[in-house]
Amino acid sequence: MNALALSETSSAVQPQLLSGRRYDAPLPVLSRTGDRERLLAEIEASGLTGRGGAGFPTAIKIRAVARDRSPVVVANGTEGEPASAKDKVLLVANPHLVIDGAVVAARLVGAREIVLAVGRGDAAAIAALERAVAERRDKGVALRIAAAPTRFLAGEESALVNWLNGGPAKPTIERPFERGVYGRRTLVQNVETLANVALIARHGADWFRRLGTAKEPGAALVTVLGAVRAPGVGEIELGMTLREVIALFGGMTAIPQAFLLGGYFGTWVTAHDTLDLPFTNESLRPLGASLGARLLIVLPQDACGLAETARVVRYLERQSAGQCGSCFFGLAAIAGVFERLASGGVAAPQAVERLSRLVAQVEGRGACALPTGAAGLVTSALRVFAREIDAHAAGGCCGPHRSRVLPVPDANDNEWN
Ligand SMILES: Cc1cc2nc3c(=O)[nH]c(=O)nc-3n(C[C@H](O)[C@H](O)[C@H](O)COP(=O)(O)O)c2cc1C
Ligand code: SF4
Repeated sequence: MNALALSETSSAVQPQLLSGRRYDAPLPVLSRTGDRERLLAEIEASGLTGRGGAGFPTAIKIRAVARDRSPVVVANGTEGEPASAKDKVLLVANPHLVIDGAVVAARLVGAREIVLAVGRGDAAAIAALERAVAERRDKGVALRIAAAPTRFLAGEESALVNWLNGGPAKPTIERPFERGVYGRRTLVQNVETLANVALIARHGADWFRRLGTAKEPGAALVTVLGAVRAPGVGEIELGMTLREVIALFGGMTAIPQAFLLGGYFGTWVTAHDTLDLPFTNESLRPLGASLGARLLIVLPQDACGLAETARVVRYLERQSAGQCGSCFFGLAAIAGVFERLASGGVAAPQAVERLSRLVAQVEGRGACALPTGAAGLVTSALRVFAREIDAHAAGGCCGPHRSRVLPVPDANDNEWN
C-alpha cells in the first residue's frame, strides 16, 4: 500500500471488525449436522453479503460448496485494487477474527484446508497472519498462508484459484464453487466477509442486523481518499449518507467536484447528486453506481477528472491478462483515445463517439469482469465530466494535469506467477 498515507482508522460505530482481538481458545467443532444447520440458518437470517465487490449472499455460497466431500476454503485478502486498503488494515488489526471466520466456514462446508491468500507486497498483513497462525490451536483444519502476485486480477476468484493450482494468476472459465483448488469445490470469500461470519457465529443474526438497512444489514469497512482531511480506512454503518461517511474522515478539504464510488471498476458520480444519499447499493443503483470494493474518492474542483480517469484506464488496460481479444485490443484502444481526449490532442466529439463505440464492443465481453468494469468507468467519466470535455475541446483544461488524486501503481506487468 505504498501509494497511500493511511490515517488512523476512523469509526462511526463501536468497532467490531477493526477492534483487535487476542486469540483465546480453539473454536468448537460443529460435529452435529443440526449445529451446522442452525449456524447456516443464522448466517442466512443475517443477510450477510460478500464484501469483496459482487455482494453475493454468503449463505448461498456456503451451501453450494458444502455439497462436496472435501472442499477447500480460501480467505481472499489479496486486495489488488490499488486505491483500497480495507482488507490490509483488517488483516493487520484483527487477523484472528478473519481466521475465526475461515474456521467457522470450513466447519460449515466440511473443509480440512484453509488458504489465507494475501498480496505478496503486503508485508504487514503477511506478518500479522504468520503471528496469528502460529498462535492457533484449531482442531481438524490446516491453515496455509499463500502470498499471491500483487496485481489487480490476482484477487478475481478463478484467477486466484488458478494460481493456487500452480498456474498464472489469470482468470479462467472455471467456477471455484464447482471446481477450485485441486479440482475440489472451493469457497472463496473476502476476508471482511469471513470476519463477519465469525461475528455472526458469536453474536447471532439479530445482533448483526442492529446496524445497516433491512436490505443491506451490518457494518462495513470503507477506504476514503482524495480531498478529505484524514484519508484511510474506517468502519461504518451501511445506510449512513455519503456526507456522514466523509465527515468521519475529517470532512472535505476542498469543494467536491465528483466522487469515484466502488473502486477502479466503479462509477464517477457528481458530488451534488450524491452527498445526501445513503451509502448502499440500493440507493446508488439508479445512478449506475454500487459499493463495489467500498471505496470512496473525493475529487476536488481543481483536479481534472479526465486526466485522472485516463491514468486509471491505462492502468486497467495494462492489467489485461491478454487472453480475450475484446479485452486486449479493446482496452488498449480505449486507453489511447481517452488519453488523447484528456490531453486535448483529438477533436472531442469524434473522441467521445469513438469511445462510445469501443465501450459497446468490450462491455460484457471477455472471460472476466475487467473489460466491463473499465467500460463502466469510462462511460461514467464521459457523463460526469462532460463540461471538462468541452473545455478540453476549446483548448483549455479544467484542472492541473499534474495533480494525482487517484493512486496508480507502477507497472508490474510481468508478474503473473
Ligand atoms: C478483476 C477482479 C478483481 C477482484 N479482486 C478481488 C480482491 O482483490 N479481493 C476480493 O475479495 N475479491 C475480489 N474480486 C471478487 C472475487 O472474484 C470474489 O467474488 C470474492 O473474493 C468473493 O468473496 P465475497 O463473496 O466474500 O465477496 C475481484 C473480482 C474481479 C472481477
Ligand atoms: S477479459 Fe481480459 S483480463 Fe479478463 S480473462 Fe479475458 S483477457 Fe484476461
